[in-house]
Amino acid sequence: MKILVTGGAGFIGSNFIRYLLAAHPEHTVVNIDKLTYAGNLENLRDIEHLPSYTFVKGDICDKKLIESLEFDAIIHFAAESHVDRSILDSFPFLQTNIIGTQNLLEAARKRDCRMLHVSTDEVYGSIGHGLFTERSPIVPNSPYAASKASSDLLVRAYHETYGMDLLITRCSNNYGPYQFPEKLIPLVISHALRGKTIPVYGDGQNVRDWIHVLDHNRAVDIAFHRAKGGDIYNIGGRNEQKNIDIIRALLGIIAERTGRDREGLFGLITFVKDRPGHDRRYAIDPSALEAALGWRPEIPFDQGLADTVAWYIENRRWWERVISGEYLEYYQLQYGGRLEE
Ligand code: NAD
Ligand code: TYD
Repeated sequence: MKILVTGGAGFIGSNFIRYLLAAHPEHTVVNIDKLTYAGNLENLRDIEHLPSYTFVKGDICDKKLIESLEFDAIIHFAAESHVDRSILDSFPFLQTNIIGTQNLLEAARKRDCRMLHVSTDEVYGSIGHGLFTERSPIVPNSPYAASKASSDLLVRAYHETYGMDLLITRCSNNYGPYQFPEKLIPLVISHALRGKTIPVYGDGQNVRDWIHVLDHNRAVDIAFHRAKGGDIYNIGGRNEQKNIDIIRALLGIIAERTGRDREGLFGLITFVKDRPGHDRRYAIDPSALEAALGWRPEIPFDQGLADTVAWYIENRRWWERVISGEYLEYYQLQYGGRLEE
């Protein structure tokens, strides 16, 4: 099968392509990515030479381009993904996450092909007690979450209206290698390693349900190959953590691994003004996916966190090049293209 993976130069998409090509040598991948600030082709350095992999620089909103590509199925990761940016300017979120998804749905409709839409638990809003199930109300609180919820509703509507073979997965917060250092875990690690203050929004008691990106990747693979059209599955690690606890755990691991002074690292923690509309708690029930398709999260959080810290220590050049902007040169060097094209 020739699979169009969108947003494959981002954090989850790049991990997914690496995983998919190793797990399914029978498939080939066309990675379409606009290379926004979050797209980094250096994430795919080790697999870009494979004959089963092709990169196309392009926008999922570009109808003609999508129509010109050959593929048998779509796995759709491309999105504007950072809540803080959506608060500053929601326009690119609406454009890519809603219009881009609709454009892909139209392309899937013309080809009569399967499309898996990668979504988020943030569409369910914040939950006081209990867990989000696939039947929880869709009540997003940030412009990012609202744009993802809108795209989920479009996918649902296309399935109902046209009987298309469409799937939605809604995953909780991911962590792991190649995550852009604006998100909590890589931000804490990269700040701590440079002795920079670590901003904690509000009281640090907000809860997120964390899952390793490779567990998410496996779940998407299983859903893509085995779920039936119209299915919606939650994906989560049954792993609720308060932000402040994660930050302390990360600093503890860093102190141990680097021999840095624990007190000095903990002194970097700085409570700052809360994020507007900051969701208090996300907690996801993945039991439908577990029961129907036999998936289980496999990476324990303490191990995943320690491995992630080790990865960021060993791959310091990767994130330093992201922070300095040098990573943007890679497209030109490797593919001879220019980013503004
Ligand atoms: P990311 O920001 O790291 O990567 C997004 C990628 O999409 C980038 O490579 C970017 O260049 C590309 N892109 C953006 N706009 C595009 C456009 N118009 N056309 C083509 N490519 C475009 O995001 P991520 O964390 O890897 O998230 C991937 C998907 O998973 C998103 O749909 C996100 O909503 C979803 N998700 C993320 C998490 C998480 O914790 N990160 C959790 C659940 C779901
Ligand atoms: P983030 O990684 O942005 O993911 P999301 O908002 O999609 O859950 O943030 C995770 C949590 O960490 C969230 O509650 C906001 C908080 N946070 C901070 O306290 N400080 C930070 O610098 C960042 C980026 C996030």
